[in-house]
Amino acid sequence: MVKVVLGAFYGDEGKGKIIDYLSQDSDYAVRFSGGNNAGHTIEVDDKKFAFHLIPSGILNKDCKAIIGNGVVINPKVLIEEIENLKKNGYDCSNLYISDKAHVIFPYHEIFDKLQEELRNERKIGTTGRGIGPAYEDKYQRNGIRMEDLLSDNFYTYLNDNVVVKNKILEGLGSNVKINTDEIFEEYEKYAKYLKQYVCNTTSMLHKALKNNENILCEGAQATLLDIDFGTYPYVTSSSPTIGGVSTGTGIGSRYIDEVYGVIKAYSSRVGEGPYVTELTDEVGDKIRELGHEYGTTTKRPRRVGWLDLVSLNYAVMLNGITGIAMNHLDTIGKLDKIKLCTSYEKDGKREEYFDTNPEFLKKCKPIYEEFDGDFGDISKCKTFEELPLNAKKYVNRIEEVTDTPVEFIGTGPGRDDIIKRNKKLTLSMK
Ligand code: GDP
Ligand code: IMO
Ligand code: MG
Repeated sequence: MVKVVLGAFYGDEGKGKIIDYLSQDSDYAVRFSGGNNAGHTIEVDDKKFAFHLIPSGILNKDCKAIIGNGVVINPKVLIEEIENLKKNGYDCSNLYISDKAHVIFPYHEIFDKLQEELRNERKIGTTGRGIGPAYEDKYQRNGIRMEDLLSDNFYTYLNDNVVVKNKILEGLGSNVKINTDEIFEEYEKYAKYLKQYVCNTTSMLHKALKNNENILCEGAQATLLDIDFGTYPYVTSSSPTIGGVSTGTGIGSRYIDEVYGVIKAYSSRVGEGPYVTELTDEVGDKIRELGHEYGTTTKRPRRVGWLDLVSLNYAVMLNGITGIAMNHLDTIGKLDKIKLCTSYEKDGKREEYFDTNPEFLKKCKPIYEEFDGDFGDISKCKTFEELPLNAKKYVNRIEEVTDTPVEFIGTGPGRDDIIKRNKKLTLSMK
């Protein structure tokens, strides 16, 4: 059985928590895209983990946690994460890193920041972690993979890159100069440390498929940040949507059984770009405080707004979402009134289809349905039936508009703050 967990909006929907929950029944948890631009938070007992590269399934020791070939790896950050886990009693013997994953170098971060400075109109608000430039090198075919880092050719490959980067920097009038030897010395140490974890993860997953084992694929970022299907250019440089699962792991699409789209009961976005249901008033400030909406990776205050079902319907179709996982029902239930966007108004007409063109989205105004909030304390609710009527009405309406079951409901940040429903996509829903 292969399950996939994807972000359905602009990231930070609480994918980490859902992965941690589902990995209890998984033999493998595999991250398939992005890098340390991601920040996945999991609260277990009294400990809080923020994973940037390591799959959130690592906390379940029977689950093999794989960093797939589609991920770009900053080895320094990865080693810090491994060390932190070890300090907390997780020995990481269940960690595997794809030999085909590309490596992030210091010059990628330099170029990320420089390119952002040089942009005029279309500043993206990247995380500054070198993600875009690392993927650029991958697609330019200049990239250095984990297997290259471990090979005798590493110095030559690195130096070839450094020569070109220095020429570009010079051309841009920058006085930064990259030094091959310095990077080589630093990365040789990382290579030694990480060598034990590096292997052919694709063949590992193929064996697992043949043995009918359970594989969970962990998305980072989200649908509307996808390089093809997101609000380009205000996107990341990878494919966090369903196609990225196959290219980032080697699992053929026909093996995928279930696709969970994660949302919050409201919404958020970090960085620049269109956001139809954004709240820039005191209601937005209230949601930001109630939901602790500050970035896991960059600590930036997140932009927040109401839940947008126009874009969720797009995410459902695009990814073939079979079930929705909705977090933060507890947070939204602290408001007395809640709004849900079910369509847009554009040029005086009703618009029900999402187009990722930022100019199109700028013209769209949200049309809302209003719900009563004040759910009270729902943290003890373990079944849907136990939820207050107002909460049920809100969830039911989301199912109705998206024609997709809400299978998971988050009632708090903790590992056990979750309602799992046995509600599957029915034929009528398809
Ligand atoms: P991810 O990047 O999609 O994994 O999400 P993040 O970890 O960046 O952000 C989600 C935040 O919401 C984290 O701080 C989680 O601890 C928190 N969270 C997740 N689910 C819930 C929930 O149901 N209720 C509340 N109150 N917090 C939640
Ligand atoms: P998780 O996995 C939220 C956003 C950045 C920026 C844009 C491009 O935690 O949901 P990049 O550094 O990728 O080139 O930045 O994408 N972004 C995220 N926003 N959550 C994330 O990951 C994100 N990863 C990238 O803020 O707008
Ligand atoms: Mg996050």
